[in-house]
Amino acid sequence: MGNDSVCRLFFFLALSPCLLYAISQDHHIFLPTDSLSSSAASCLATDPNLNYKPVIGILSHPGDGASGRLSNATGVSYIAASYVKFVESGGARVIPLLYNDSPQTLIKKLDLVNGVLFTGGWATSGVYLETLKNVFEKALEKNDAGDHFPTFAINLGGNLVIKIVSELTDILETFNASSLPSSLQLGVNANAEGSLFERFPPDLLTQLETNCLVLHNHRYAISPSKLQNNANLASFFEILTTSKDKDDKTFVSTARGKKYPVTVSLWHPEKNAFEWATSLKAPHTEDAVRVTQSTANFFVREARKSSNTPDAQEVRDNLIYNFKPTYGGTAGKGYDEVYLFE
Ligand SMILES: *[C@@H]1O[C@H](CO)[C@@H](O)[C@H](O)[C@H]1NC(C)=O
Ligand SMILES: *[C@@H]1O[C@H](CO)[C@@H](O)[C@H](O)[C@H]1NC(C)=O
Repeated sequence: MGNDSVCRLFFFLALSPCLLYAISQDHHIFLPTDSLSSSAASCLATDPNLNYKPVIGILSHPGDGASGRLSNATGVSYIAASYVKFVESGGARVIPLLYNDSPQTLIKKLDLVNGVLFTGGWATSGVYLETLKNVFEKALEKNDAGDHFPTFAINLGGNLVIKIVSELTDILETFNASSLPSSLQLGVNANAEGSLFERFPPDLLTQLETNCLVLHNHRYAISPSKLQNNANLASFFEILTTSKDKDDKTFVSTARGKKYPVTVSLWHPEKNAFEWATSLKAPHTEDAVRVTQSTANFFVREARKSSNTPDAQEVRDNLIYNFKPTYGGTAGKGYDEVYLFE
């Protein structure tokens, strides 16, 4: 291997030897063999408190995600591939949690993951709601038992978590926020330690408040006052951001658990980079894609704090790679790709 390839190999691990090497190339000063070997050793330094092979459980949603265009099978469920790509882009793998898995199967699968994601969708009752509630409670229990086990709940998933925490079925209010590119007004603690926006680049944080870098697509949400006036919600959640609907009514758009690593986002972080339906108006600018990436980095950073290190073969046997996504986006509507479970 020549010095050039050695340099390329080490480029991502340690920049300085490459700079020295480049300088040495230009000025014919010296070859940095000593500094190469000493920085190679420091490349191995990792934080022993973090788990660098995090796995996220994503709960499937009833239906085929394509209004029957892909499957009408009884009990079929789907995960839009955009959620999987979102998690993968943060540096984690995915295990599907089927909404109609038995409680025993779900408990086993939850022991293989380091956090859970609840997606958008439409199902608000029945087996889906029961399973989501069950998984959410198990996630909280894992934290109570000493693990750091994050939950990220997007749009419908977030609304269901709000309902579950409030213990009221009618806590949500109607808002006019279908297919609505939007800004986020940041609360004072929006980028506090451990919160979604903590490590957003400063210029992106500023832009979030002025530009439409996120997509809302819902008709229900909760207003800040209603959240604060519900004892359960007020003690569980801290509001990170608010947004305005098409009628200028303000709703909570991002919230985090005060005690638990739970994040609720009524906007869709995954769509900016990964969904292309023409009717949806998801922002696709470079900055909007940075929002997807920064949010994925946050969620997976949280999952790395989970100390759960399950059997590697059991993980592989349950990964979403055991399934193939289907392209459902030819019609220009709905999700571009979905994983179907039938
Ligand atoms: C599902 O049912 C609908 C309505 O009958 C039909 O139009 C569609 O083709 C079916 N989908 C498949 C994949 O067979
Ligand atoms: C939602 O907003 C649009 C645009 O302002 C308006 O035309 C429509 O009447 C509103 N819909 C509802 C249900 O309030």
